[in-house]
Amino acid sequence: MCGIVGYIGYQNATTIILNGLKKLEYRGYDSAGLAVIQNGKIELRRDAGKLSNLSSMVDGNPIAGNIGIGHTRWATHGEPTSRNAHPHMGMTGDVVVVHNGIVENYLELRNELTSEGVNFNSDTDTETIVHLIERFMMSGCDFSDAVRQTLRMLKGAHGVVVMSRLCPERLIAARIGNAGGVVLGIGKDEMYIASDLPAILEHTRNIVFLESHQMAEVTREDISIQTLDGKPVQLKIETVSWDPISAEKGKYRHFMHKEIHEQVRSLTDTLAGRVDFDDCELRLPQLNLTKDLAQKINKIHITACGTAAYAGMVGKTLIEKIARIPTEVTIASEFRYQEPIVNKGDVLLAISQSGETADTLAAMEEGRKRGAILWSIVNVLGSQVMRISDGYLSMQTGPEIGVASTKAFTAPLVDLYMIAALLAKFRGQADKNEIDKWISDLRLIPDLAGRCLDRENEVRSIALEMESVTNALYLGRGINMPIAYEGALKLKEISYIHAEAYPAGEMKHGPIALIDNDMPVIALVPRDPWYDKMISQIEQVKARGGKVIALATEGDEEIQKLSDYVLWVPKTPWLLGPVINIIPLQLLAYHIAVYRGLDVDQPRNLAKSVTVE
Ligand code: AGP
Repeated sequence: MCGIVGYIGYQNATTIILNGLKKLEYRGYDSAGLAVIQNGKIELRRDAGKLSNLSSMVDGNPIAGNIGIGHTRWATHGEPTSRNAHPHMGMTGDVVVVHNGIVENYLELRNELTSEGVNFNSDTDTETIVHLIERFMMSGCDFSDAVRQTLRMLKGAHGVVVMSRLCPERLIAARIGNAGGVVLGIGKDEMYIASDLPAILEHTRNIVFLESHQMAEVTREDISIQTLDGKPVQLKIETVSWDPISAEKGKYRHFMHKEIHEQVRSLTDTLAGRVDFDDCELRLPQLNLTKDLAQKINKIHITACGTAAYAGMVGKTLIEKIARIPTEVTIASEFRYQEPIVNKGDVLLAISQSGETADTLAAMEEGRKRGAILWSIVNVLGSQVMRISDGYLSMQTGPEIGVASTKAFTAPLVDLYMIAALLAKFRGQADKNEIDKWISDLRLIPDLAGRCLDRENEVRSIALEMESVTNALYLGRGINMPIAYEGALKLKEISYIHAEAYPAGEMKHGPIALIDNDMPVIALVPRDPWYDKMISQIEQVKARGGKVIALATEGDEEIQKLSDYVLWVPKTPWLLGPVINIIPLQLLAYHIAVYRGLDVDQPRNLAKSVTVE
């Protein structure tokens, strides 16, 4: 979703902003722009489409200055055209703004400003912000006060950076609610601002995270933060350790492909330091789970969106089976509207790669209001989800750039398994041998993931057969039902093939009518407790002329006879099966999209971090 980069210092802001925006491309966007102060005047360059269009525009008509702001926009109000791209300038040419979020009361504000004679140059909600700032400045407020007063008038959640040619020695950045983050990077005689760390990590590791309702005045040498009520806030500088190199593509053509292959490492890292295989102990200190707390938990509510929600569905089976704690999964965008029955002391467990998903954060806030203990499994360090949690597990995956989530799906599956086993242990839910076996099974996971990747060529040839299909049906049962959902989501996200997933037992209640020779059915039939039931479903599909691509355990000859193609997975303890079974489905979706010549890493209409409701 939208990305922000700002710079003030002694270098050329244009270059730093363009490079920073490039690092945020993965978030998804449909236009881009930047503004710098050059010879006392704000110079603006904006264009629809990819960042390369903006770069060519800047090459053809260069601008340079030591202070500037830039933006990649994912359209909400107004089409993705150059006139709607950020930054937005007011009528005087004195002030310019970039913005993430939605001004919920923009119509009201726009009508008010129009009636006062303001001309709007775009269809965006953002443009109201710059006109309001100008109005306050014209009525005598200084720059900071004008921004503060404006921000206080906005409804909704926002990340904003403002620049004025009348105050060329400072940028103002603010955050209200959860429209993505606002991070400030501290350099030597230079400062950086961004919506996300990757944009500035190559320049500095010393970071300040803005909290909601805080506004920062950023000069070359200094940062001062106040609340929107004008109360000073003490600066808290954090040092982050992500290696920006690990976010580069390396030998891979696409980030998604790289990230699928990184799973052996990310799964190893997920276990490292947390599982002691010698004495079968689990160490999850950041979760703040004590024996006393574990014994008091009556219910766990898992909430998340998209892929993370499918991980949560696997988590429900794991927690209920291993720890025997009732667990409910609710899609985060629904949670707060359901008057959820959350009792004081229940746990609300949020799962999020970005840690900035607006719906997930809103669900957490709802849980907090109702007295829940907030836990999270989250990837982006310092993100809002992590910061508001009472306890968290940080995914050990490193940055995930491909819009289609892969390694940030398998890591939380292992995290959920570890949480379930720790809960079982603290609650005395199973005997020591059983718990030790669960824990020791974890050691198999990285190697099993690697064995799936070794079979990539087989998956690629099945992808070639499926390249031109227009529909696909994914079937699964039990713990692998969410894997069918996730496999279908991967296919539709990056290949634009219509794909649906069903619990296989539901086939006869409707979807079986769809079966014919043109409907490939991807059936998940690993050796798990639902195996026999799945076999009979495959037979029903075959009896109606359907084409079956089975995902099955190596050596299963019966499946081979029944299916047209087989995606083989190594034999895996069934509670950990989902971690392994998704890998061939990720590869299948990836190779189909590549054969179709599509933009795998940045599929149309999608954003990596969904910071609007
Ligand atoms: C995954 O492939 C999707 N792009 C999407 O469903 C994603 O998982 C969802 O938007 C949640 O994001 P989060 O994990 O950053 O909260």
